[in-house]
Order: sequence, then C-alpha cells, then structure tokens
Amino acid sequence: MGCNQEKPTGGGESAAKKAGGFTIGMSQCNLGEPWRVEMNARIKAAAERHPELTVIFKDAQNDTLKQRAHVEEFVSSHVDLLIISPKEAQPLTEPVAKAMEAGIPVIVLDRRLTGNKYSCFIGADNKKIGRAAGEWLKEKLHGKGKVVELKGLMTSTPGQDRNSGFREGIAGSGLEVVFDTDMQWLEPHARQEMESALSRFPKIDAVYAHNDPGAHGAWLAAKAAGREKEMVLVGIDALPQEGVAYVQQGILDATFQYPTGGAEAIDAALKLLHHEGVPKEITLGSRVFDQTNIAQGGRELK
Ligand code: FRU
Repeated sequence: MGCNQEKPTGGGESAAKKAGGFTIGMSQCNLGEPWRVEMNARIKAAAERHPELTVIFKDAQNDTLKQRAHVEEFVSSHVDLLIISPKEAQPLTEPVAKAMEAGIPVIVLDRRLTGNKYSCFIGADNKKIGRAAGEWLKEKLHGKGKVVELKGLMTSTPGQDRNSGFREGIAGSGLEVVFDTDMQWLEPHARQEMESALSRFPKIDAVYAHNDPGAHGAWLAAKAAGREKEMVLVGIDALPQEGVAYVQQGILDATFQYPTGGAEAIDAALKLLHHEGVPKEITLGSRVFDQTNIAQGGRELK
C-alpha cells in the first residue's frame, strides 16, 4: 500500500518514511467535485505501482487558508516532494515558493500559480478548450443567439482561461453573452445563478458552463422551469460517469475533456526524485464529446 489518507491535523506531524523510500505530500484544494476525487484516485493508483512511494493526501475543503497551512505542514515535516492543485493562484504562490526554497520539488497540477517558483506544471490548455467550446457553439447555433456563461472561480486560472478562450472563439459572430457570473465551480451556485438568468431572459439559446457540475446545475434550473429543451448546454471535464454520461442521456449537448493529470504527476515526481530532468510545463490533450461522436469515444481537439 503506497498511500495514506490523512486528515488535516493542524501541523507539525512528521511524514512516515519507508527506508530508502520517498514521501510525497499531495495538497488537494477540495474533494467536492468528482473530478478531484478522480485526480486523487489516479495519483494513488499510479503511486501504488511504485512501492518506494508513500503519498500523504490533504484536502483543504475549498479553503485557501487551510490549503496554505497544509503546504506549510508538508514543508515542516520534510516531505521529499510536493504535489499541489491550488484553489487560487495568488495566495498559494508564496507558500509554494517557500517549499522550493526549502529544497522540496513542487509539481503544480491543473490550476496555476503566479510566477515560476515550482518545478513542473501539468495541465490541459484551458484557453484552447474555451476557444473550442466557443467555436462549437457558434457552429451549433449557426452563429447567432443569446448565451449564459457560468464561470469557474475567476481567481483561479482555469476560470480566467476558459473565459478568455471562449470569448475569442465567439468573437465576430452573432453570439451574445447576455448573462455571465462566477459560480465558483459549484453546482448549487450554478443552479441558483441560472434561476436568475431564466427569470430575466424569456429566451436563452445556450449555456456555456466552465465545468460539468455547473452545466448540470444550469440544466436542473432550466428543467424545473420547464425550459431545458429551449437551450443547448455545454460543459467541461468529461468524466465518463459525469459529463460523458450527461451527453449520453441528452442532458448536455457537449462536454470537453479536462484530464486530471494524476498519473502524469507521479511519472514526473519519480523523475524529479531521481534527479532526472522534467519539462517545466507538461500540456495534456483534450477531446470533445457530442451526439455526433460520442459512440466513437469523442473527437480529439487539434
Ligand atoms: C473541480 C474543478 C473541475 C474543473 C477544475 C478546474 O474542482 O472545478 O470541475 O475542471 O476544477 O480547476
């Protein structure tokens, strides 16, 4: 068994290290969405193939201050390497820089920090995904329509990039974003915001949500109002049991895959621990799943 599941303890505990082995601290910003549960599961499964690795997981429960404290705890317990999927860019930058200064290599997963004080960033290209979602919608709606954009947390980089990419993707078309708001990646917030959009706009042609939980929240609101057939719904993540299943069930019209990078993080960790070079940036691919391609396993984004 290569992994411990550890509850935050408030600090100071020392990482149990196997003789000749390595301890990896994994700081996860929350485990509320299935996508993050999947990320941890991928890390755990990949680490279990290497008996010399012990992974200690901490869940910050969507609290930036708690996540800062977790990083500091990992530094003071001298883990050999840190993996972090940070809630927000700016407030987690300094504690990660301090880990690096203490000689601990750091792999940043999915959401970015500011500056370059980390060993390796792994994630998909959110700007490209956002642009592809914009282009997909433009084609689907023949270049015209009223769009609701339910944004991910805008102090996190995927939210910023999925927004700016999408705006590039629809630029110059007749698609108009009539309502946009920050639903912080959370399904209940998305549902509530969609209720406001529905009461303000008698006709909505499309919803672009920055993740599948957000798109599902929007669908729940539209369905409760008897209006879900009026609009096209697009999300991001494409987990088989979540977004892809929603497309299969006709709840969503499209979802764009956002791989978690969990397995890749363990590959990079092993290289760093053995002082082998890793690229500063590892960019993961993406696929789109819609009615035209879902039976074939989606289509790769070029
Ligand atoms: C989960 C999540 C995913 C999203 C990712 C962005 O917390 O919101 O749904 O793709 O984080 O960082």
